[in-house]
Amino acid sequence: MHVLVTGGAGFIGSHTVLELLNSGHTLTVIDNFANSIPDSDGNAVSLKRVETISGKKIPFKKVDVLNVPQLEEVFKTEKFDAVIHLAALKAVGESSAKPLEYYINNLCGSLNLISLCKKYNVKNFVFSSSATVYGSPKSLPIREDAQTGPGITNPYGQTKHMIEQILIDIAKAEPEWNIVILRYFNPVGAHPSGLIGEDPKGVPNNLMPFVSQVAIGKLPVVKIFGNKFDTPDGTGVRDYIHIVDLARGHVSALDRISREGNIGLEVYNLGTGKGYSVLEMVAALEKASGRKIPTELSVPRPGDIASCYCDPALAAEKLQWKAEYGLEEMCRDLWNWQEKNPKGFAAE
Ligand code: WQD
Repeated sequence: MHVLVTGGAGFIGSHTVLELLNSGHTLTVIDNFANSIPDSDGNAVSLKRVETISGKKIPFKKVDVLNVPQLEEVFKTEKFDAVIHLAALKAVGESSAKPLEYYINNLCGSLNLISLCKKYNVKNFVFSSSATVYGSPKSLPIREDAQTGPGITNPYGQTKHMIEQILIDIAKAEPEWNIVILRYFNPVGAHPSGLIGEDPKGVPNNLMPFVSQVAIGKLPVVKIFGNKFDTPDGTGVRDYIHIVDLARGHVSALDRISREGNIGLEVYNLGTGKGYSVLEMVAALEKASGRKIPTELSVPRPGDIASCYCDPALAAEKLQWKAEYGLEEMCRDLWNWQEKNPKGFAAE
């Protein structure tokens, strides 16, 4: 397929672009560099690395999904078979501080894109959603038919839930769409080459990039956000999934559309089905890095839930996809990326 990937220069985007290329798809990638870095020629540093790994050129355009004329120009110049929509602001804490920026960027950006897909008859649509839409799960492991919406504690999660509702209503009204909603759990790690990985701007919000920056000596200590949760060791439990497995889930979503034809709208959890605690994750990276990682107990983060991990059975059955990598490979590849790129992509 010829695929438009929005937000393709970021952590998830660059790994997804690589797996799409490895599977023979042709692409155009757009990004506004909100969560990625341009090189001196205005190309995405991460995608130049993907070109090195894949040996394939990547047509890239700096486009903001809020700029409709700029975005429409992309649809005017190429005929796409599918769109994979990753572009979004994604920091949970930041979204509580800047709700309007998140609603405008994530909702209006998605509405602009979906409207142009309709106008140019691109009806195969893969959407990057998040386990956050489940709020505080009533039972574990979480299945796709679990309640979503109530209990979402941040504007970021609200935007993902609202976009899911928009897509559900479109699919009901216009059955010719093929829409796959992918609910990511906690993506970590890096491509085994160590050429691409997670390169958060500023101090990392998420656990594992923070832990690896402490291991490399860039940050002093890992703050443990509470140890009184109802979990085996009291610290938060999450379903961490290797970024390469997550990226391959997008290829499987396109394969499902190709294989089945009219699927309407389907929702899949992209997780391993296994939960690990904060302390287990720190210990796993200590083992992978051979470094001692200092920690200190801190107050729980507002809105944080005790445990969140999925039942991945539906994706295994219908996407014919399951996570292949375990915790050891996640930490091995995360450390390999961190050691090879102590300053992230900025060193280019
Ligand atoms: C993981 C665990 C923290 C940092 C969020 C979004 C989700 C997705 C991933 C975008 C929790 C604990 C963390 C730290 C800590 N983002 N922690 N010290 O909150 O599960 O999910 O990011 O799609 O949508 O909701 O991920 O990595 O922030 O936290 O103790 O310095 O680590 O309390 O238990 P989270 P996280």
